[in-house]
Amino acid sequence: MQSHSSHSNQRIIIIGGGVIGLGIGWQLAKAGCTVSIYERDQAGRAASWAAAGMLSPLAEVNLNEGDLRQIGLTSSQMYPKWVQELESDSGMSVELRTEGTLIIALDRDDMEELQHLYELQQMLNLPVEWLTGAEAREVESSLSPRVTAAISCDADFQVDNRLMAQALTHAFQKLGGMLHEENPVEKIEIQDEAAAGVWVNGTQVEADVVVLSAGCWSPLIPGLPEAIRPPVRPVKGQMLALQMDQPPIIQKVIHAPDTYLVPKNDGRLLVGATSEEQGFDTQLTAGGMFELLRGAWEALPGIYDFPIVETWVGLRPGSRDNAPILGKTAIENLIMATGHYRKGILLAPVTAREIASLILTGETSEIIEPFQLSRFS
Ligand code: GLY
Repeated sequence: MQSHSSHSNQRIIIIGGGVIGLGIGWQLAKAGCTVSIYERDQAGRAASWAAAGMLSPLAEVNLNEGDLRQIGLTSSQMYPKWVQELESDSGMSVELRTEGTLIIALDRDDMEELQHLYELQQMLNLPVEWLTGAEAREVESSLSPRVTAAISCDADFQVDNRLMAQALTHAFQKLGGMLHEENPVEKIEIQDEAAAGVWVNGTQVEADVVVLSAGCWSPLIPGLPEAIRPPVRPVKGQMLALQMDQPPIIQKVIHAPDTYLVPKNDGRLLVGATSEEQGFDTQLTAGGMFELLRGAWEALPGIYDFPIVETWVGLRPGSRDNAPILGKTAIENLIMATGHYRKGILLAPVTAREIASLILTGETSEIIEPFQLSRFS
């Protein structure tokens, strides 16, 4: 579909400066392309900021989502090297932690569900271990006495997603990428069924390739023909951060039945997240906070006296099937990398590598082939 006579000196415009757009931009700037990112607000301050940074491809596996599981595992395997390269290019740490995840059960119902998940993980030969409640408390002594069982996913990682967004911004700019913050794209310019650039501040900026990576704002960018408007909607997530005493109450990420808890190096314990279909509403609610605190307290009663140091709301970009939308579209030179839903931080490395490679070679890899927009038509 695309014909690139010269691959590494193309002019690329990326719409959206979250970890997805920044990651693609970093890789393409490194390959010698002229890359401009247009961001409606501040780079890395939307879903990338709101996330918890869990890299848990094993915690949310589903039998029917083989392609999604595979791309998650591929990206997670890429993480250590990606972090090394990013830290070297940016000169800053993104605080990769390797203590792993415990998925816990608190009652009989949870345990049935956990057993079902464990059987599935075993069927898929995933490296997980079943623990009794007592064994789980040997690993994390602050877990509630109510914990009846746990699955230990030692291969899981976590990063500080806010630091990762900053590192990507630095690395992108150090390599010559141009970041235009508070510069919303007014229109994608399409001529003869091909993307020719974008309009910003009333001026047309030409490009050889336009990448749409604007999260839940992706379908709202003017100029997109109806047939290729990506079916992505905002899925609201309320979160909060507690300040842990020293030494920290936990080291591992904990997936409890109603919440997850993610300890960070600076002593914050992130508690997330609600999942609400409320459009672009970003209000915190009493009910949302109550459910998060209740779920966290049931798993870790020791949090009771911890100060609440931050509360926030993020908007996940969820596609119609909650899998990302990656690759070419019916409009030549218009590429999508959006709809990462709950997995934007996990899938950032594989998305950056595969979309950059698609732009540089014109070839769609097997990894992203199942995720093209055309699957919805
Ligand atoms: N990735 C976790 C969430 O979306 O809540």
